[in-house]
Amino acid sequence: MNSRESVKKLPHVTTRRLLEMKEQGEKIAMLTAYDYTTARILDRAGIDVILVGDSASNVFSGHDTTLPITTEEMIYHTRAVVRGIQAESSRAMVVIDMPFMSYQLSSEEALRNAGKIMKDNECDAVKMEGGKVIAGTVKRITDVGIPVMGHLGLTPQSIYKFGSYKVRARDRKEAEELLRDAVLLEEAGAFALVLEKIPADLAAEVTRSISIPTIGIGAGRACDGQVLVINDMLGLNTEFHPRFVRRYADLDSVMHEAVSRYAEDVRKGDFPSEGESY
Ligand code: KIV
Repeated sequence: MNSRESVKKLPHVTTRRLLEMKEQGEKIAMLTAYDYTTARILDRAGIDVILVGDSASNVFSGHDTTLPITTEEMIYHTRAVVRGIQAESSRAMVVIDMPFMSYQLSSEEALRNAGKIMKDNECDAVKMEGGKVIAGTVKRITDVGIPVMGHLGLTPQSIYKFGSYKVRARDRKEAEELLRDAVLLEEAGAFALVLEKIPADLAAEVTRSISIPTIGIGAGRACDGQVLVINDMLGLNTEFHPRFVRRYADLDSVMHEAVSRYAEDVRKGDFPSEGESY
């Protein structure tokens, strides 16, 4: 028996389970992951939903925005993440971000790409940014049986349109538009909705107005769940300090110290020791 076979498998988190969690007032814990090792840790720690976010474009590949990442790159990350949870309890749901311009051209093209992503990955769902403009596409994709998570508020794929990463929907007009978009996405068949960087009162109103779960990031505590980018919450992304990120570790310092000690040991001839040699 190898170490993988010895891990106890648990019931997989499904869209239905997330709905039950909302109904029962159980909060949903979601985090991003882009690789096998991290996905294993997240699944082992009981994270409900792992998002293979297009934030990989920033924190994994070093781009300034999420726009450059491709469908093939997202599939590559997702395969690694799915292998990670399969090596553990296989409990976490895996959602993959559809990258910029993989769903905006037409519903047809979006469906083809969503289908490719689902077939190539054994993931559970796709995520798409936007409201009214993509509602028809969301319906087309959910109609064929592919679960879609929506994403409203600060939508990083539209950063060049908005020109900043400021809090969204502070004024009533934008807030009402967001509320309408949330209802439209639910009607189109979305199973959950990420709300990014919007006032907490508005997120609470959206959460009360729809029956699908809301997952907040910088959207206050009333949401049905929360999501953070793993690199931010582990303190691996030291230049980024928005108010909504709680740092649960300082891995930048931990890794820097470990790597510096290793380099010093190698230079001194201290590593490897006899016991570390064959
Ligand atoms: O790409 C991402 O990491 C996301 C989260 C911020 C929700 O979309």
